[in-house]
Amino acid sequence: MDKIFYTYRIPDEGMLLLKNYEISGNNEDRFLSKEEIIKGARDASALISLLSDRIDSEVISSLPKLKVIANYAVGYNNIDIEEAKRRKIRVTNTPGALTDATADLTMALLLATSRKIVEGDRLVREHKFEGWKPGLLKGPALKGKILGIIGMGRIGKAVASRAKAFGMNILYHNRKPLLQSEEEELCVKHVSLEELLKSSDFISLHVPLMGETYHLLNEKRLSLLKPEAIIINTSRGAVIDEKALIKALKDGKIAGAGLDVYEEEPFVPQELIDLPNVVLLPHLGSATNEARREMAIMVGRNVAAVLEGKEPPNPVI
Ligand code: DGY
Repeated sequence: MDKIFYTYRIPDEGMLLLKNYEISGNNEDRFLSKEEIIKGARDASALISLLSDRIDSEVISSLPKLKVIANYAVGYNNIDIEEAKRRKIRVTNTPGALTDATADLTMALLLATSRKIVEGDRLVREHKFEGWKPGLLKGPALKGKILGIIGMGRIGKAVASRAKAFGMNILYHNRKPLLQSEEEELCVKHVSLEELLKSSDFISLHVPLMGETYHLLNEKRLSLLKPEAIIINTSRGAVIDEKALIKALKDGKIAGAGLDVYEEEPFVPQELIDLPNVVLLPHLGSATNEARREMAIMVGRNVAAVLEGKEPPNPVI
């Protein structure tokens, strides 16, 4: 019988779909080391992984029976896709399940940074609220401002439709522009990356992390931003050069940032933590009950399909 190994327990809705297989894994609230993954999954045909697990060539080549790696995430930059391809191992992900959750969190960060929600909360808790004052924690309104969306896939589009409802004017940059009908429906305009960076009041990133998007926002590109610009990142940390971002924030070259992701998670540089003009979250983009449940169901279906010799519903490769 095919064996399944999970590096971290996923919601029951997904596990239930796999109840007819021999399934084992880590039931503790901690990440497994590489050695533990290799040991636990040695005889497994399917590996259920988190984006926090590095499934590199060493792990993949140590698992001779592996047929599928089902990542409990839409992103799969934690997996050595080339190595999996070479070994004819399928890799699956969970597209769509977390689109709304991530778009909602992006809006939350847009509001939290512009309206200084975290600073306000801190001020009240520190008993520093002295009464209503005309200038207390003022920030820019979203209505009428330009939002630049980099990456117009599922999540980028979901952010655009929310931002439209807030009265924002939306520019976007994507490798491939949308159809005119889609642009009209979302009220978005395709521009070059340079124009987007120069014109936007808010910039939100929605690209996957890969070779061509690594440090997409580097020092040179960050220098194009307006001093009042606020950057929101709910995609992957390494899409922005974190050191260059810290410098731009420290030097007042940009106004602020709302970050859900970091270059070397879970490490968050102290310099970032010390900055007053940033809102920092611990990678919560997909953290709704609904999204996490749906992601688990997708993982269950993907694993079951491959083990039954069928095409998985969400193949990466
Ligand atoms: C993903 O799925 O890639 C998100 O970053 C976390 O759910």
